Amino acid sequence: MRSLTFRRPDDWHVHFRDGVMMKTVVPYTARAFGRAIIMPNLTPPVTTAAMAEAYRQRIMECVPAGTDFTPLMTCYLTDHTDAADLVAGHKAGIFTAAKLYPAHATTNSAHGVTSIDHIMNVLEAMAENGIPLLTHGEVTRADVDIFDREARFAEEILAPLLQRLPELRVVMEHITTEQGAALVLAHKHRMGATITPQHLLYNRNALFQGGLRPHMYCLPVLKREKHRQALRKAATGGETCFFLGTDTAPHLRHLKESDCGCAGVFSAPVAVAAYLQVFAEENALDRFEAFASLNGPAFYRMAPNEERVTYVERPARIAEEIEVDGAGKLVSLFSGEAAPWSLAA
Ligand code: NCD
Ligand code: ZN
Ligand code: ZN
Repeated sequence: MRSLTFRRPDDWHVHFRDGVMMKTVVPYTARAFGRAIIMPNLTPPVTTAAMAEAYRQRIMECVPAGTDFTPLMTCYLTDHTDAADLVAGHKAGIFTAAKLYPAHATTNSAHGVTSIDHIMNVLEAMAENGIPLLTHGEVTRADVDIFDREARFAEEILAPLLQRLPELRVVMEHITTEQGAALVLAHKHRMGATITPQHLLYNRNALFQGGLRPHMYCLPVLKREKHRQALRKAATGGETCFFLGTDTAPHLRHLKESDCGCAGVFSAPVAVAAYLQVFAEENALDRFEAFASLNGPAFYRMAPNEERVTYVERPARIAEEIEVDGAGKLVSLFSGEAAPWSLAA
């Protein structure tokens, strides 16, 4: 049985939601990860430093006693973001980064940015103050095929923006295509990318395996096999610009198994095991620690975690569903199956 000891990892892309859902999901992330970037797409979105600080405190109330976990807060950019509040919030240590949701690109993005031109003053202030821009990188025009939305964003929005603001540091979140990976690599001195477990494990066939599979549906949507292969190469290839970000995105079971199902894969309970499976399959376990525990902190200019954890290649049965206190149930990645790795006792 193989085992691997590495620094406690961080998750650089997490959705915790709020209320009973948050209470249910926070412990899974807090047990496995030292820090996490908390996405701000609540209703209403987290748009000010005061809202972020209040949200951070609500999160901390859900962290199990004795668990060392730090949530890193982000600001949801809108057409009306107050640059001064963002910069002050960053200086005060409340905001780690700001998140660009193109309007209507994904879950709770109705208040998102309608055009980059509307937030140029904010982006300039971010470049000046070293505040990273995190992007949901998809164009949203109806005439663009859903499978092309990320590649078009890279080409039409991100590449020109990088040219316009040479000091701006950018994370392309949850990359799903070879074009996304290539753009990040070409600007690796100031760009990073998170890669999710599902985009490393599955291609778009998984959405239709024997029928429609709502729990495989997330945004950006799963892509062709050649893109999955490109992402595997990026994650395991030793380039420091690629790092762990699960995009764990819980939605209640009945809201995913629905006429208009929500986008998002809930992966927190099995995320580390899922990534380990990928690295084991690629014979790249020696590069796992860099991806999971070193490259992210380096991009965010933070020290890596000191604590070490050990995972063993011992399958662990994953529950069919998880109860969310009176609201409904959650179905996680690998639910009803076995996760191939587990935390050593
Ligand atoms: C995320 C969510 O549910 O908040 N969903 C998803 O499919 N990834 C939003 C996002 O990260 O785009
Ligand atoms: Zn997104
Ligand atoms: Zn997300």
